[in-house]
This record gives sequence, C-alpha cells and structure tokens, in this order.
Amino acid sequence: MRLTFYGHSCFGLEIGGTHILVDPFITPNEKAAGIDIASIKADYILVSHGHADHVADCVAIAQQTGATVIGSFEVCNWLHSKGVAKIHQMNTGGVKAFEWGSVRCTNALHSSSMPDGTYGGNPMGFIISAGGQNLYYSGDTALTLDMQLIPRWGKVNFSVLPIGDNFTMGYEDAVEAARMVQCTTVVGVHYDTFPPIIIDREQAKKAFADAGIQLLLPAIGETIDI
Ligand code: NI
Ligand code: MN
Repeated sequence: MRLTFYGHSCFGLEIGGTHILVDPFITPNEKAAGIDIASIKADYILVSHGHADHVADCVAIAQQTGATVIGSFEVCNWLHSKGVAKIHQMNTGGVKAFEWGSVRCTNALHSSSMPDGTYGGNPMGFIISAGGQNLYYSGDTALTLDMQLIPRWGKVNFSVLPIGDNFTMGYEDAVEAARMVQCTTVVGVHYDTFPPIIIDREQAKKAFADAGIQLLLPAIGETIDI
C-alpha cells in the first residue's frame, strides 16, 4: 500500500491499481492549499463520520472521479441527497469484501452529525485489508477499550490515529491505543489544523518513541510506502 497525506485526517491509499480516499477535507484547510482536489484520484471514498472536517470535499471529489462512497447508512444517504451517485452503506461491526480488499467498520467513541445538522449515524473507524496487510484507521475517537478487539481480527501492520486532543484522543492516549492495537507504526492525524488541536510534534514523537512505537507525521502532499 502507498499512503499520501492530504492534511488533517484526509489521506489516500493506493492498493494495487485502486485508489481509496479517506475523509476528504482539503479545500477548507488553509494548510492544504497546495493540494488541488482536481488532481486527486479516487475509486472509493471512505467517510468515517459526518463532521465537516471529514466530508467537506466528498461530493465534489465523488462527482469528478465517479468514486463509490463507503460510510455509515446515514452518512451515505445524506451524501447521496447532495449529489453522490454511488454509495455503499455500512454500519459498525460490518465487513465487506470489495474487488480490491475488504473494509471492516469499527467502533469509534465520538459523535456524528452532518454539516447541516442532519443525524449522521454512528461514527466509525475502518480496518482496510488488502494483499495480506491490515491498516487500522480509528477515525475521530477517544481511547476506548474496544480497541483491544482490533488485533483479534488480524495483525495490524499500520495504524492511522488522531493525536491532536480536544476533539479526539491526544497523543498520549494514542500511544495507549497503538499498544491495544499491537501496532508499532502509526501515522498521526487530526492535529495542528485548528488552534485547539495544535500540538508539540517533538513531544508527540517522544511519547511514541518511549513506548517503542514509530510515529510518522508526513508532510501534506507527502507519499509513504507502508
Ligand atoms: Ni469529528
Ligand atoms: Mn474531526
């Protein structure tokens, strides 16, 4: 898999020849001004919950790419009503095999309303499995004991976890999350975008390093092989 970071909690995965985009929030993010959404490829778009900082560019990118959006029943229905043609509705606990790999919807301890206040269903995380690799993206969440279930479904090679605190777990709780998930490589997301979630990156890296876990903080636009 190859991961490209687009800022905040938005990232792309290239799996074989398939492009998966997660939680598209780019044009409202001043820090991601260098990213042109017209250049983003997507066959599928995964949406963890309904908050604007996860769905802002979803309709535009789905329309320009023809991507299928995967998310909760309620998130998908709302996006469909806003012009997304192809949706695949899921809910917490569900697993679905697609031609490129599988998606498991995990519990996230957060909230989920759409930008206009419409109910957004349960917030979720995802385990994305392809080619013998498992990636866990927790979505926006607090640290929760439910994360102990994650490794029972398979060895997690790589996790994407929020580390910015205030709206989600901070980096110290994210270290505990990585321990529960039994994963030693983490990409930190959901930090530095807004004043309440500005963190000390060096302190965050040290907290992970002290636990024997590598914290990767790719630059916006950077691609890494995972
Ligand atoms: Ni949120
Ligand atoms: Mn968020």
